[in-house]
Amino acid sequence: MNRCIYMINLLMLFLYKIYLMSLYKTNEEVEIQRESCLMVSDTITEVAKVLKPGITTLSLDVMAETFIRDNGGIPACKGYHGFPYSLCISVNEQIVHGFPGKYELKEGDIVSIDTVIYKNGFHGDHAYTFILGETTPEVLELVKVTKESLYIGIAQAVIGKRVGDIGAAIENHTYGKHGYGVIREFVGHGVGKAMHEDPQVPNYGRMGSGKKLQENMVLAIEPMITLGKRDIYTLEDGWTIVSEDGSPAVHFEHNVCVKKGKAEVLSDFTRIEQAEKANSNLNSSYYNLESDLVSF
Ligand code: MF3
Ligand code: CO
Repeated sequence: MNRCIYMINLLMLFLYKIYLMSLYKTNEEVEIQRESCLMVSDTITEVAKVLKPGITTLSLDVMAETFIRDNGGIPACKGYHGFPYSLCISVNEQIVHGFPGKYELKEGDIVSIDTVIYKNGFHGDHAYTFILGETTPEVLELVKVTKESLYIGIAQAVIGKRVGDIGAAIENHTYGKHGYGVIREFVGHGVGKAMHEDPQVPNYGRMGSGKKLQENMVLAIEPMITLGKRDIYTLEDGWTIVSEDGSPAVHFEHNVCVKKGKAEVLSDFTRIEQAEKANSNLNSSYYNLESDLVSF
């Protein structure tokens, strides 16, 4: 009997070791995953080139799927728990997981593009929010602050810090300083061989709480922020998450590898931002390429 319990304990320890190993990647694995992350950046860049009033969100999805497959990737959202598309496209009060469709984008829309690509055994998962043409100063500020909060969160993704430090930093910048709504039902996450791995990375939290961060954990950090309250509901399609008060929402996401002193960002906004600046239909007046929001 004792022997049996001993064997079970040994087995549990072994399984736990395997689980822990899956949280940390080898340098080689990180390099492979970087390719998937950059393919997401390239896909969002392709979308940034063609975004304009009058274009349907479904046409963006079709274009993105072709681009991903042509580059040897698999659009991992498509078929994920029944999600029917390659891109999540969330417009205005839609926060995340919006369905592409017949909707024609119009001047003033805020468009979040989020996608996941699987290639060579690893996932890349990131997101960017665009503004079509003229909008209000409040929305410009919301987009700016949300993007800043992403980098402020990333600055915490270093060896020795804890998951709660990331959330606390994002919450402090968005809710604390601006009173914005910080979505709680959806969170960032580990990402690698699976699209969603441990640990969960909320955009709120307490400094010094949660799992300790260690070298080569790869995290999807993704503030989802509204101009109003943080309450949400799900549309009848069972997927699209919208703000309950109808206030506009913004979502930026990077994949980062935890390192000593400074996280390594595996995804890349530079190419997206270049395409955004080059597309006169897009409003990027809240930042300059040169001023580099990354320097937080
Ligand atoms: N980045 C999103 C997430 O982590 C995308 C998921 S794909 C979907 O939840 F299929 F769930 F939409
Ligand atoms: Co994600």
